Amino acid sequence: MTIFFVSLGCDKNLVDSEVMLGILRAHGFTLVDDEIEADIIVVNTCSFIHDAKEESIQTILEMAEMKHSCRCKALIVTGCMAERYKDEIMTEIEEVDAVIGTTSYQHIAEVVAEVLEGQKVKQFDDLQAMPEVDVQRIMTTGGYSSYLKIAEGCDKHCTYCIIPKLRGSYRSHSMDYLIKQAESLAAQGVKELNIVAQETTVYGTDLYNGQKMLPELLKRLCRIEGLSWIRVLYCYPEEINEELIQVIKEEPKICHYLDLPIQHGSDAVLKRMGRRTTQAELRSIIGRLREEIPDIALRTTLIAGFPGETEADHQEVLQFVKDMRFDRLGVFTYSEEEGTPAAQMPDQIDEAVKETRRDALMMAQQAIAFDKSEEMVGKTVDVLIEGRLPEEDVYIGRTYRDAPDVDGYVFVHAEEDMISGDIVKVKITDAQDYDLVGDVIYEFTE
Ligand code: F3S
Repeated sequence: MTIFFVSLGCDKNLVDSEVMLGILRAHGFTLVDDEIEADIIVVNTCSFIHDAKEESIQTILEMAEMKHSCRCKALIVTGCMAERYKDEIMTEIEEVDAVIGTTSYQHIAEVVAEVLEGQKVKQFDDLQAMPEVDVQRIMTTGGYSSYLKIAEGCDKHCTYCIIPKLRGSYRSHSMDYLIKQAESLAAQGVKELNIVAQETTVYGTDLYNGQKMLPELLKRLCRIEGLSWIRVLYCYPEEINEELIQVIKEEPKICHYLDLPIQHGSDAVLKRMGRRTTQAELRSIIGRLREEIPDIALRTTLIAGFPGETEADHQEVLQFVKDMRFDRLGVFTYSEEEGTPAAQMPDQIDEAVKETRRDALMMAQQAIAFDKSEEMVGKTVDVLIEGRLPEEDVYIGRTYRDAPDVDGYVFVHAEEDMISGDIVKVKITDAQDYDLVGDVIYEFTE
């Protein structure tokens, strides 16, 4: 039996997809990369914002066609949209044979078997369940870079966010489970491990007497042979403590990179968002990080057009972006999500205004990002090679400053062949907007 798998949404969802793929392989299914050849199709969906929901629905509809025109016998929808719209998906799209919730993906093989016997299945466990599956994940990220999901759910309840309703309250995976997972990934050839969760900075508080255990977890991960880069994503700024800063500073394997989503820079908007920081506190933590780790690359995300955002609020966040000179920045327009407090707030902003404000923030950042790229010219940095451009002697890679998928690349000229996953020293010779160009430095010893 053949399976075709589509994984949408974030890297946390991707980890679930890789676990499901591992379970299916262990049950004898063969993965194919063309839906036309699939007996079973699984779509692991996202339901975060309007565009993500649209993409999920479009993908399910496209795959539903396969049941009429190709050999597909079973269409299964998993993940966040399945969790949120379990009944609607089954009733509105008759080709869907099963829906599986966000805490039930470990049952994928049983569900497939039931569907093949002709049943329609809804598989949902308690939203607070904590699947820990002892299976070798199938990596979809090239084999040299992967994600370690250290916790499930979220307790922050930002007023715009639906995720606690899709993924439950915050639960950490035990440290032993995570170390075992990381060792298995390293044994499969992973060099770069990206630490993810809805929020990584409070890791362990639910398991270890309220103690924040991310620094300890990072230290233990650094001892794993084979891992070269460990990168921490999704840090809530107010939860960053001295111990974490010192571990990032002192452990050579930890990338001098932090992703700290701040969402806004106006105190009034931050308060309505349910965020727990003020602009002054954000300035203070960013200053502290840069003081202790001068070469740290900081990524953040912002939301433009939150309900009630005034032109003055917008100007304030614009100035904040100019002052902070983030290394990386993503800006989303606010998406009104049914079932969240923000959707009920007065003074929802017109789409056109949201887009204008997003564009203004991105334009301000573009100038900063191009300057930051220029500042890299002449420096020598380690680059993780990810592949080779077709028909050219140019390789593509990333520095510690670039997280997979979201940041820039380095185009690398090399005299000798390299393979994906090699980490080489590169002298940066040019900057092209968000990307860099450089030559491999060969170090010869007598
Ligand atoms: Fe989407 Fe669910 Fe991730 S809503 S962003 S796939 S946690």
